[in-house]
Amino acid sequence: MNEENQSSVLEFILLGVTGQKKQENFFFILFLFIYPITVTGNLLIILAIHADSRLHNPMYFFLANLSFVDIFFSSVSIPKMLINHLLGSKTISFEGCLTQMYFMISLGNTDSYILAAMAYDRAVAISRPLHYVTIISPRSCVLLVVGSWVVANANALPHTLLTARLSFCGNNKVANFYCDITPLLKLSCSDIHFNVKMMYLGVGVFSVPLLCIIISYIHVFSTVLRVPSTKGVLKAFSTCGSHLTVVSLYYGTVMGMYFRPLTSYSLKDAVITVMYMAVTPMLNPFIYSLRNRDMKAALYKLFSKKISSQPV
Ligand SMILES: *[C@@H]1O[C@H](CO)[C@@H](O)[C@H](O)[C@H]1NC(C)=O
Repeated sequence: MNEENQSSVLEFILLGVTGQKKQENFFFILFLFIYPITVTGNLLIILAIHADSRLHNPMYFFLANLSFVDIFFSSVSIPKMLINHLLGSKTISFEGCLTQMYFMISLGNTDSYILAAMAYDRAVAISRPLHYVTIISPRSCVLLVVGSWVVANANALPHTLLTARLSFCGNNKVANFYCDITPLLKLSCSDIHFNVKMMYLGVGVFSVPLLCIIISYIHVFSTVLRVPSTKGVLKAFSTCGSHLTVVSLYYGTVMGMYFRPLTSYSLKDAVITVMYMAVTPMLNPFIYSLRNRDMKAALYKLFSKKISSQPV
């Protein structure tokens, strides 16, 4: 990156979710609720899992990791949006913008791979229970988690470096409430063909876990249906159903957002990004733990311990 290649733009303007004053106020209030719920919900899950030794197994370690990622994922964009709205400012520095983009891609990808690890874990537990302990060993758990982080960062780095090399001349209005890759590419006055190709490749890498999730669920369903017990089938369908809803919302919105011609992107699409930037990280802890008796017991224990340890 040489000097003259460096942009004339030193900061970007974040136009917001819709760019309309009234609706921005609405989203400000919405995010003001969503963000604390997301952080508290996910934090409680981590604390409850670590405090209860009965939950020290792969399924819950993956869930704790998902919560850990979700806290950071929602922290990449929402606090900045809230602060900017309060200060009546819309700016973000060039570096801040690229940092946001980097973490948005890497954490979004980590989320995706951990969701796949969770589905794989359940599939092995249900369809190959006798081999579960050897397949999902502590070592392979750590490998799956560390692997998720490594691949996610390896997927985020090229996009960030390629975007950093672009020139931005004059127009610095990002059509979203955070620095997302599509509106940024649209702003550039450089040739972005390679960037766009890499972006499609990146969405491909991001979506591979979806395939693993679908295959895992097919295994789960076929195993459950082979052992006909109405109660078991209903339970499996209701549990997997809620997981599948969140998963399809997540992948559906991400793919709908990035797997399409750049020219078709406009500010009104920013609303879609609210779905995976804010809503899924908030829903994950509820979807994955409210139907779960052990998790509820652990949360209850966490609270009763806190209360009983308080001096009266
Ligand atoms: C993530 O998973 C690993 C491996 O299973 C586990 O050791 C670690 O405690 C988990 N992280 C969190 C935040 O629970």
